[in-house]
Amino acid sequence: MLSDPALRPGWPATLRWGPVELHPLRRADAAEWSRVRLANEEWLTRWEPSSAQSWAQRHTPTAYRAVRRRVLQRARIGLCLPFVIRVDGRLAGQVTLDNVVRGALRSGNVGYWVDSAVAGRGMASLAVALVCDHAFGPVGLHRIQADIRPENGPSQRLVERLGFRREGLFRRYLDIDGDWRDHYTYALLAEDLPGGVLGRRLARGDG
Ligand SMILES: CC(C)(COP(=O)(O)OP(=O)(O)OC[C@H]1O[C@@H](n2cnc3c(N)ncnc32)[C@H](O)[C@@H]1OP(=O)(O)O)[C@@H](O)C(=O)NCCC(=O)NCCS
Repeated sequence: MLSDPALRPGWPATLRWGPVELHPLRRADAAEWSRVRLANEEWLTRWEPSSAQSWAQRHTPTAYRAVRRRVLQRARIGLCLPFVIRVDGRLAGQVTLDNVVRGALRSGNVGYWVDSAVAGRGMASLAVALVCDHAFGPVGLHRIQADIRPENGPSQRLVERLGFRREGLFRRYLDIDGDWRDHYTYALLAEDLPGGVLGRRLARGDG
């Protein structure tokens, strides 16, 4: 049963710019998601939540369907916005705006990954920029937070390129790749970039 749309402004949505399209996780994405995730085990493991299950167990089409059901339930009541990234029509990653809190805070946490085959082309930052503009626009948030391990240079470069500022260090904050890991916390506020996040990226000549 669908919940009240007023609980989830800005969801569901499809966002597009150039070769990049973001859309809600689809049931039909199971096989493609499983194939891409399995092929990227080495590329992704270091940045992923710890798990008692093997990578292969966590990335079957059945596992995808279970995860999808869970996140879409949360999306229906406005707690998260889980997008798949497509580049030139191919499933190439995910951006999730999660832990959405309303009231006086109006904040969410952004997480993302891309297929190593599309990395280094600006596609991930384009996808995250689209989600940030959507979050500050139709979703109505004021703050987007990104928590990043100090070892993750590409991810820090991505958010810095989009205008996020580093606000501090959370000690042993998230259980990632088998241990509690320190994370830098970055944030972007709606008023930081009056021309929008994508607008800044384009103005800087980043494509
Ligand atoms: C973090 C991650 C998404 C970054 O992906 P990415 O492709 O490096 O990020 P971008 O889309 O911003 O692309 C930037 C790179 O493309 C290059 N680039 C090429 N054309 C570009 C363009 N038009 N615009 C911007 N960058 C462009 C940049 O120079 C940059 O290269 P650099 O890393 O050598 O500086 C990716 O490394 C990843 O999925 N890692 C594994 C999962 C992960 O770490 N998730 C985040 C956890 S916090």
